[in-house]
Amino acid sequence: MDTETQDVQKLINSKTYKTPCYLFKKNVLINTLNDIEHTIKTKYNNIRLSYSYKTNSDKEVLKTLRKQKICIEVVSKKEYTVSKKMGFKDIIYNGPAKSKKTFIDALENNYIVNIENKRELSWLKSIKSKKHIKIGIRVNFPLSCFIANAKSINSRFGFNLYEDLKKVLKDLKKYKNIKVVGLHYHSTYIDRTPEKFKIVTQELLKFSKKNNLDLDYIDIGGGFDCLNHSKFSFNDYMDAIYSCKEFDKKLNIIIEPGYGLINSCYDYLTKIVDIKKTQKANFFLCDGSKLHLNIKSKVNSFNVDFLKEVNSKKIIDNYIVGMSCMESDRLHLTNKKLALKINDKVLFKNCGAYTSSWNSGFILEKPRFYTLK
Ligand SMILES: Cc1ncc(COP(=O)(O)O)c(C=O)c1O
Repeated sequence: MDTETQDVQKLINSKTYKTPCYLFKKNVLINTLNDIEHTIKTKYNNIRLSYSYKTNSDKEVLKTLRKQKICIEVVSKKEYTVSKKMGFKDIIYNGPAKSKKTFIDALENNYIVNIENKRELSWLKSIKSKKHIKIGIRVNFPLSCFIANAKSINSRFGFNLYEDLKKVLKDLKKYKNIKVVGLHYHSTYIDRTPEKFKIVTQELLKFSKKNNLDLDYIDIGGGFDCLNHSKFSFNDYMDAIYSCKEFDKKLNIIIEPGYGLINSCYDYLTKIVDIKKTQKANFFLCDGSKLHLNIKSKVNSFNVDFLKEVNSKKIIDNYIVGMSCMESDRLHLTNKKLALKINDKVLFKNCGAYTSSWNSGFILEKPRFYTLK
């Protein structure tokens, strides 16, 4: 057990947290951010870090990020407005859910704005002021052209890099005060490999060179998995990006991690409230639910602590199940004997990404929230 886990366990045992609750390990986030900042400063100094708001927008998380002066990547009028109000100094505005008012406001404030579609192009062209405007454009291309097992998807986001982007650039050339300074790409390709980022960087840079674009940045989106005790390190990703043939150290490369930054900064604490023993299986009902984690997750998707598992001759399915009335609300399965009693705590580890931000209020209230200091 690493010292961080030991510290967290000690803390949880020493407090009477009301369950179910999220436990925000603030120091994990701060240490991660400091590590990234140090690595960028010393080795990869054209990388610009931003955090994907949608992944987890709990107030304490946002406050921590703002204090650390992290750039925030937002994808809707709501996210933009909250971030600005909270005092984020650097904002990247992406996604189709912008409003015209916030789109123009973002440009006036010199935030990075990546255009998503024709609607936004028409907003841009409607600006009467002759002031210089810098804009980025979201692009897409199928990774399946490069990665054999990647699903072939016609992305609905942005403009196709090979088929549509040139037309957009030609059109914008008519507006002397508008300059395209960035290209943005994000894909939801589930394999979070460094290879993907190398390909994306390579393709964007190739396009830029071929078309004589004078870019300030390329934004290669999120999709990292390096800060969650995973098999890749931050350096693996950076080295992959830096290994591109066309690489230009003068160009800023923006990354927008969500999962990679916040997932390991949360645990979820629940308490056993009922034990039902049947012929074929035992069910340990906790006061939490998959609805607080990920409704689509399969049983055993999360690592669990405080599980008192004991070897036993009798092999039987032991489930930890949740409070919702969905049969699939099964969080953990083991064939070992579970020596859990009523009121025992069970801790689901590393669940900060797309969990609390997806809480819908369906059936259950939002869990409590505590910051571990
Ligand atoms: C534009 C954009 N950037 C960044 C992210 C964050 O992705 P991840 O949480 O996989 O790092 C997303 C997630 O959907 C996104 O749409």
